Amino acid sequence: MTKLIWLSDLHFVAEGLVQGHDPQQRLDMAVAHVNAQHLDAACCVVSGDLVDRATAADYRAVRAGLDKLAMPWLPMVGNHDDRALVRALLPVPTGGMSDFVQYAMTTDVGLIVCLDTLTPGADGGSFCAARQAWLHDCLARNVGMPALIFMHHPPMALGLPMQDSDRLAEGEALLDLLAEHPNVRQLCIGHVHRPITGNIRGMPFATMRAVLYQAPPPVPAWDWDSFAPAREAPALGVIHMKDGGVLLQYEQFCDAEEGVR
Ligand SMILES: [Fe+2]
Repeated sequence: MTKLIWLSDLHFVAEGLVQGHDPQQRLDMAVAHVNAQHLDAACCVVSGDLVDRATAADYRAVRAGLDKLAMPWLPMVGNHDDRALVRALLPVPTGGMSDFVQYAMTTDVGLIVCLDTLTPGADGGSFCAARQAWLHDCLARNVGMPALIFMHHPPMALGLPMQDSDRLAEGEALLDLLAEHPNVRQLCIGHVHRPITGNIRGMPFATMRAVLYQAPPPVPAWDWDSFAPAREAPALGVIHMKDGGVLLQYEQFCDAEEGVR
């Protein structure tokens, strides 16, 4: 069995608060939970929005916090991230795409694929022909190996306010590509700061709560002018891969009020 940890949407800043939440305190509590309960995890995937404002100081500080994990961690980019700074300052694995933060890791029981869905300067995501071609080649080289696919932006509508316009522009093309490969076992998606699961084109998907602040449910309706974080606790994911199957546990690592000012 291989166990993975999944963190998402840290929105870290080296100093201060984001949406009334303390990113340092939330990150420290998530790391403490992982190190206390999951020392046997092979690695930790962080599915984007590592930082909130994408400064070099923020990336150095978030790295200092994540380096306290007892296992290796894998950085991904979200719409708040800067691709060049992530590649320069964070432990992006070698062997992936040279111009993106997109790569794959082989484990004893399966393949972990981390996609780059960033469009610089935009909230919505993209997945260009070069990234699609790399993913196709990666999956074609690993036929029969169970694969987990991590991405920041959802490739489909999820029924959340504002989310339809913020999702992946080439979502249909990505889903078409993934559905051609029966070894794809699970899509793991960040960005929405809420837990949602479902099935698309026969593939199960799951989104993750944010480490920092949570988005409200779709009703009552909200928009960015009326947005206020939901009074819901954060969570992290614990993923088990065994015999070609996948099990995801959502684990709360602190109370909703912890780190809220
Ligand atoms: Fe986010």
